Amino acid sequence: MTLTARHALVTGGSRGIGRGIALKLADHGIHIAISYLKDEAAAKATLEQVRARGADGFTVQADVCQPQQIERLFTRVRDEFGTLDIFVNNARGEIGTFYEPAMSIGLDKFDAAMNSQARAFLVAVRAAEKLMPDGGRIIAITYAPGGRFGGWQPWVAMGAAKSALETLVRYFAVALAPRGITVNAVSPGWVDDSVLKTLPEPVVQMIRDHHHSGWTPMRRLGTPADIGNAVALFCSKEAGWITGQLVAADGGMGLMDAAIPLAIQQPELQPA
Ligand SMILES: NC(=O)c1ccc[n+]([C@@H]2O[C@H](COP(=O)([O-])OP(=O)(O)OC[C@H]3O[C@@H](n4cnc5c(N)ncnc54)[C@H](OP(=O)(O)O)[C@@H]3O)[C@@H](O)[C@H]2O)c1
Repeated sequence: MTLTARHALVTGGSRGIGRGIALKLADHGIHIAISYLKDEAAAKATLEQVRARGADGFTVQADVCQPQQIERLFTRVRDEFGTLDIFVNNARGEIGTFYEPAMSIGLDKFDAAMNSQARAFLVAVRAAEKLMPDGGRIIAITYAPGGRFGGWQPWVAMGAAKSALETLVRYFAVALAPRGITVNAVSPGWVDDSVLKTLPEPVVQMIRDHHHSGWTPMRRLGTPADIGNAVALFCSKEAGWITGQLVAADGGMGLMDAAIPLAIQQPELQPA
């Protein structure tokens, strides 16, 4: 796998999955712009880890719900790096900013979800393109099941927003194909050391047990490094002919059939 990129921006790169992506790209010597919303200390700690890998970069505060702040973010990237080879759209607001059921969610929370995903991506890709040489890479981090299922009611705004994000990925893939810039989406399964850390411990344990029991066939949660690996694949020279695609990095989670009890689906229980 060949990564020739020199500069990347990872929104929400300060912690969780974004940090896993930033560190994986830093392993390949890529300098990273690490954006965050509130937690400057986490962003600085991630930058230290980037430097420990022999790469460099900077931290930058910006709210991706505010288009002017996205523009300011890219101005800073231009001033620091000059060019941008990789843009990873990863930031997602705190659960409290969008987590309400379909029949009662307020428009403020619905807008917060849509703005942080679809509108932010629209604004950011257009800004990124101006700094990108031909052959650049754009990757959106989504949660594809959220947009497909009609069951997880409090997720309605983020589900709708991630669906819109995935659609934008395909439009931008076509728009930027003449320049050899690829635009793809990575959909993680449930990942440890991420937003999960903000949930109550009994809830985390329930989620962990659920996936370890076989609903994720690889019987573990993902790690930020797993998602960093998937992003690095899309950033490789060899992935230059792949665009507009959505890849699940989920240990097989998306392959299980929720309509059939797990005991029947587990291969070790099937008759020989
Ligand atoms: N965790 C999972 O299991 C999972 C599964 C599937 C998909 N995903 C997707 O993966 C991505 C990362 O998830 P995560 O769980 O790693 O996130 P996380 O740990 O909650 O971290 C969120 C990051 O986004 C930043 N952020 C929050 N609101 C922002 C805003 N309005 N503007 C700019 N930055 C903002 C945070 O900065 P501060 O720390 O400064 O607030 C932080 O760096 C998201 O797109 C999520 O939907 C996650």
